Amino acid sequence: MTRIALIGIVLLFQAACERAAPAGPAAPPVPSDPHSYAQPSEARVTHVALDLTADFETKTLAGVAKLAVERTPGADSVVLDVRDLSIGGVTDARGNALGYVIGDSAPFLGAPLSVALPEDGDTIVIAYHTSPDAAAVQWLAPAQTAGGQAPYLFTQGQAILTRTWIPTQDSPGIRQTYRARITVPRGLRAVMSAEMLTPDGVPAGDGVAYAFEMDNPIPPYLIALAIGDLAFRETGPRSGVWSEPSVVGRAASELAELEEMMAAAERLYGPYRWGRYDVIVLPPSFPFGGMENPRLTFATPTILAGDRSLVSLIAHELAHSWSGNLVTNATWDDFWLNEGVTTYIENRIMEELRGPAYAAMLRQLGRQDLNATIEELGPTTPDTRLHLELAGRDPDEGMTDIAYEKGAAFLATIERIVGRERMDAFLREYFDEFAFEPMSTERFLEYLDENLLTDDEAAALRPSAWAYEPGLPDNVAPVQADAFARVGEQVVRFREGAAPASLETTDWNTHEWLHFLRALPDTISTGRLEALDRAYGFTDSGNSEILFEWLRIAIRNRYTPAFGALERFLTAQGRRKFLAPLYTDLAATDWGRAMALDIYRRARPTYHSISTGTIDEILDWRGG
Ligand code: BES
Ligand code: ZN
Repeated sequence: MTRIALIGIVLLFQAACERAAPAGPAAPPVPSDPHSYAQPSEARVTHVALDLTADFETKTLAGVAKLAVERTPGADSVVLDVRDLSIGGVTDARGNALGYVIGDSAPFLGAPLSVALPEDGDTIVIAYHTSPDAAAVQWLAPAQTAGGQAPYLFTQGQAILTRTWIPTQDSPGIRQTYRARITVPRGLRAVMSAEMLTPDGVPAGDGVAYAFEMDNPIPPYLIALAIGDLAFRETGPRSGVWSEPSVVGRAASELAELEEMMAAAERLYGPYRWGRYDVIVLPPSFPFGGMENPRLTFATPTILAGDRSLVSLIAHELAHSWSGNLVTNATWDDFWLNEGVTTYIENRIMEELRGPAYAAMLRQLGRQDLNATIEELGPTTPDTRLHLELAGRDPDEGMTDIAYEKGAAFLATIERIVGRERMDAFLREYFDEFAFEPMSTERFLEYLDENLLTDDEAAALRPSAWAYEPGLPDNVAPVQADAFARVGEQVVRFREGAAPASLETTDWNTHEWLHFLRALPDTISTGRLEALDRAYGFTDSGNSEILFEWLRIAIRNRYTPAFGALERFLTAQGRRKFLAPLYTDLAATDWGRAMALDIYRRARPTYHSISTGTIDEILDWRGG
């Protein structure tokens, strides 16, 4: 080979590695992330290529991660985040061993893995396998699935769990493209938050391999994998639903509005930049409602109410395709830029789909959640500020309704001050301007000031008070759902002794029922609860949100006829948002603690570690 040809190949290779290079000099500096050991100003990962085999016997993912690294001149090593990974060895692209050292491990952060960079290349290859207890990975036995025949696996990266299954720089400000080849047992299928290159799989040893590619640079918390007996149902040209075969029909009809949601979001905020939008409805142990993994939202089956009344959750995850996945919180201190902006957009999408009166109900329920959270945390607690200070703590501690609902209220307040037209244009520009970049609170406020607010408007809004002071500023845009006024009248009638069956509840939707249940008095006699139950069948409700509110009332009043349903609900699903308050309420009573422990002892092995982490603390669980 001639020298010229060799240089040509080297240049080509470099070009391939550079496609994910960060934006030019205009890009804001990436703020330092207290939850990552990475030193991106020295060397940063730009691309991850995985070749992993899922072994359901040993509960391990094993194989290699090949990383493309971009370094500043003089840097001779790259620092990655790892937690509970077994590293077999590190080499360069040609297989020459590279030196590496794993530093001390810290709770929830894991350890730094420093790798000596090759002198003449930008690729490092890490051979490794995961631990059976990797926090990001839940391995489900067949009995934990709908079909009961095949095992299942899903990952959950946010906030800092990706490092338990992929050795990379696990920081939301360090965007990476990725590729993956995943080998699974025959009969199972893998899906990922990426484009599927081999829809039918390719035979590989005893199993089948699936290949994936994500060409948009994403933060590593969005790399996601699910494996199981999966079926697909199209809901439109760009969208569809994955789930186990026995669930896919129900899931597809519940989520029949995916295309409409995408169209609504695009009208408001510009093009959807991820190609397809699919949803995978996971087994019931999924610890969250939804997770916005790009191209493939992961969702709990508890949204399958049968009447599409809980699909705002999907509007929320879709909205993250702009706020979160396109413009990403720079660190977990800026979490509200993901969740608050998304909660605002979620509501705008639902308004497009269902109209202003419906959207106002959702907003009012959200405001109730916000007020409850501020009351619970205390109005002067630092954690009620939008900009959090999570250094030294598990970022999970910042994942409260403050980010979601105070964040959304902030945007609603901006909208009220500048008007909808200017607000919409502003957000659209914001997503264009900062697409595929991290965003900090400071930068957002600066951009807001420079591009939207007049001096008078800024004075009326007081953005820094919103971001940096606790509690809820008194200029918050009020919410007023007219439909809830009617509901409130019926609550008054109930309080005054009216027979539950005589209440005027015709045509109430799920949200009106939720408002009703939340507004009931704290103490209700067993007789009155029985009458409510007879009239409206709450104990047998197939709507998870309604059942949840009812079960809280049942615990508060020791309404034993609902305790069978309570136990079933606590054992049949593992969504933390439902589990945590119910176990908390139970444990707070003198009679309920033993019951909570008894149920938990049996249910705990079926829950995800994200949920057990929280409930262990609530119940002061020490094993047994
Ligand atoms: N990104 C979140 C879930 C999340 C947050 C996972 C923080 C890990 C750490 C997702 O978009 C979300 O907010 N899900 C909510 C539902 C939403 C409608 C409020 C949930 O899971 O309850
Ligand atoms: Zn969210």
